[in-house]
Amino acid sequence: MQFIINLLLSIRTGLAVVGEGLFNLLRLLVLAGRAVFIGKGRIKARLAGVFTSSVGQRAVFSVLRAFMPNLLLRRTLVTAYPNVATAIVSRFDDVHEVLDRETDFEVVYGPKMRRITAGENFFLGMQDSARYTRDVSNMRLAARRDDVPKLITPFVAERAATAIGHALGELDVPQQLTLPIPAQLVGHYFGTPGPSEQALIDWTTIMFWYLFIDLNDDPEVVTGAERAARECRGYLDQAIAARKRAPTAADDVLNRCLAMQAAGLPGMDDLSIRNNLIGLIIGAIPTLSRAAVQALDQLLERPAALAQAQQAACADDDAALARCLNEALRFNPLNPVIYRRAVRDTEIARSSLRCRPIPKGTLVFAANLSAMFDRRQVRNPGEFRTDRPRSHYILWGYGLHTCFGAHINQAVIPAMLKPLLKQSKLRRAEGRAGRIDTNGTPFPQHLRVSFDAK
Ligand code: HEM
Repeated sequence: MQFIINLLLSIRTGLAVVGEGLFNLLRLLVLAGRAVFIGKGRIKARLAGVFTSSVGQRAVFSVLRAFMPNLLLRRTLVTAYPNVATAIVSRFDDVHEVLDRETDFEVVYGPKMRRITAGENFFLGMQDSARYTRDVSNMRLAARRDDVPKLITPFVAERAATAIGHALGELDVPQQLTLPIPAQLVGHYFGTPGPSEQALIDWTTIMFWYLFIDLNDDPEVVTGAERAARECRGYLDQAIAARKRAPTAADDVLNRCLAMQAAGLPGMDDLSIRNNLIGLIIGAIPTLSRAAVQALDQLLERPAALAQAQQAACADDDAALARCLNEALRFNPLNPVIYRRAVRDTEIARSSLRCRPIPKGTLVFAANLSAMFDRRQVRNPGEFRTDRPRSHYILWGYGLHTCFGAHINQAVIPAMLKPLLKQSKLRRAEGRAGRIDTNGTPFPQHLRVSFDAK
């Protein structure tokens, strides 16, 4: 009996996946048609706008999940990293499989990391190895999980409350809240404030863009990132030397690194400390800002969800607020895909009808956005729900390279947004100003909101 019930349920889910795929195919055709025939600017740019929007991406992945869950294109689409073909993996189980099998699917960032540090790799660019474990372990001793409630959240909460206090009913969210606060946090917590907040923001933004988003080595991005890396290295070298010349009692990551160096820990010479700090700082500023802005933007799209988040904020229920923001991010996560390269000829989803051979050298896009909408695992994925199990979210990566800052993100995004969400009649500003403006970068530069200041 149980077998029959399971069979029927699985047929029902399969039909729902196909129906959803067909619906989204039609939706994409309508959106693309509208982009071609209506609107300003070049048609190519208008079409790109459709397919790169979060709605467009979700629709494309729905079609793939239904009809080509493991798509293999025997063409090189990405030129920034050597590869022979491109695969897109869209189902929940298969995305996990790719990210779990790091010995078959390697990270590719190493060469770019070396250009940023002018020499050594950083652990996100390393395969699973003794060196990877050493470097991650060292940095976990320097940046500890219990720093989040003790040092990080109180600092961010205080800065966010001050920013909202000064805002007088209008706020440009990235410029006044989500970019300056992570930059200030880097100064306060890492002990490396940079020559200015703006310099830290500019350096980390272009380096992140170069490392993870620029898949075709745009010469302007490459040149900008190399310049930023040179300046950032110079600043950090000087900051480490200055701290050694004039020690301080600050409880920050830099001082902890220097204490570990003094204790003779391997991998903690000045150069290694600098390279580890570069990697962490790049991960911390543009990411936290973009994730917070995208989460807020998704809430502003959904009045009921916004009301729920505001209620949690007003009640100081941080856990409930974090659940709302995670769910908002599920609809538009910072990175919709995580990519790897096949180390050898292999297969994905072996022993299933969707099994696909993957030739050695294929760049594999594991679509985490798609996985979070796979109704085979995620119940009613189109609904905004805050009761989903944590395992259904892939917001900060998965497997060996899961985000080093995952616990920081989980606390900092709510802490930055809470004072804003406490304001009544929170809404988008009128017209274009109330929409995310990336100003030609992959990161939100402007999103104006209004509220009735208390
Ligand atoms: C909301 C903000 C953030 C998002 C969405 C995010 C996302 C991610 C993702 C998806 C990965 C996995 C990349 C891959 O597997 O290819 C990752 C790894 C990483 N992130 Fe984050 N991140 C965020 C914030 C941070 C912060 C605050 C830090 C530093 C304190 C950080 C440092 C790192 C590092 C060092 C890794 C590599 C971990 C390893 O290789 O073991 N990230 N992040």
